[in-house]
Amino acid sequence: MDKRILILGSNGQIGTVLTKALVDRYGYKNVFASDIREPKIQIANFEILDVTDKNKIAEAIDKHQINTIYHLAAILSANGEKNPSLTWKINHDATVNLFDLCVEKKIVTVFFPSSIAIYGPHTPKINTPQYTSFNPSTVYGISKLTGEMWAEYYHKRYGLDVRSIRYPGVIGWQSLPEGGTTDYAVEIYHGAIKNKYYNCFLKAGTKLPMIYMDDVIRATIELMEAPASRITVRSSYNLSGMSFTPQEIYESIKAHIPDFKIDYNPDFRQQIAESWNESIDDSMARNDWDWKPKFELEEMTKDMLRHLSN
Ligand code: SER
Repeated sequence: MDKRILILGSNGQIGTVLTKALVDRYGYKNVFASDIREPKIQIANFEILDVTDKNKIAEAIDKHQINTIYHLAAILSANGEKNPSLTWKINHDATVNLFDLCVEKKIVTVFFPSSIAIYGPHTPKINTPQYTSFNPSTVYGISKLTGEMWAEYYHKRYGLDVRSIRYPGVIGWQSLPEGGTTDYAVEIYHGAIKNKYYNCFLKAGTKLPMIYMDDVIRATIELMEAPASRITVRSSYNLSGMSFTPQEIYESIKAHIPDFKIDYNPDFRQQIAESWNESIDDSMARNDWDWKPKFELEEMTKDMLRHLSN
């Protein structure tokens, strides 16, 4: 059976890159991208879809004979704090409605991303285990954690093949994040290249788990292609790429752009970052579906600077 893929939230930081990867892998005719806005560049079949509009999503599933869904639409951590009730509607309510629809329409596999935002001040910060205490401090984190719990529930109760990864902060040259706490790690490269200056909204020593876009896309596709029998985690897999502080990423860039300057002016996002963890134990992803990251900070910086300078 051909995969017939619907992507919700295809214009976002990850959606933009994942949509292209899915078109390359499964063919243009099998990939249907959607978002609430038109894309800047159209790389797949596209239609406007509001993730809170269950009926419209149902129509799209029927019309395109969809059997696989990537549900990427969400409001991130920092923007979420500006409008908690809208964030809950989009991140939580729409996700539960979508899981219902997947059961109703007999969707074969659905992907739902979770995040390091589910970790909280009482979660072990170093090598955070797969199963531990979670007490997220943002509405985004709460919505992702409940989404994980619903995923597990829908799998157990209805047999829905839902798969998920707790994405670390994602860094890529292809797209910009919007409204997250880890956004600084993308903006810093743009600042370095355009102005040889970056005004960082986190403190120099705030270490967070991060991952390069190439690794994110590969992890997502590898998880979605793994045999269902190997998937033992139905909430969401811990996934690790690298960990660094603003000071460390600054130094890795400065090695290539010696007159690059930085200031640190922490804002409300500092508190969010401090509630998260520093590094992740992803041994379950490694064991279950052979996950292994390829990019560390140095290689990522070289690759980012090479692409962005062009
Ligand atoms: N990158 C996200 C954020 O900062 C975390 O998942 O909100």
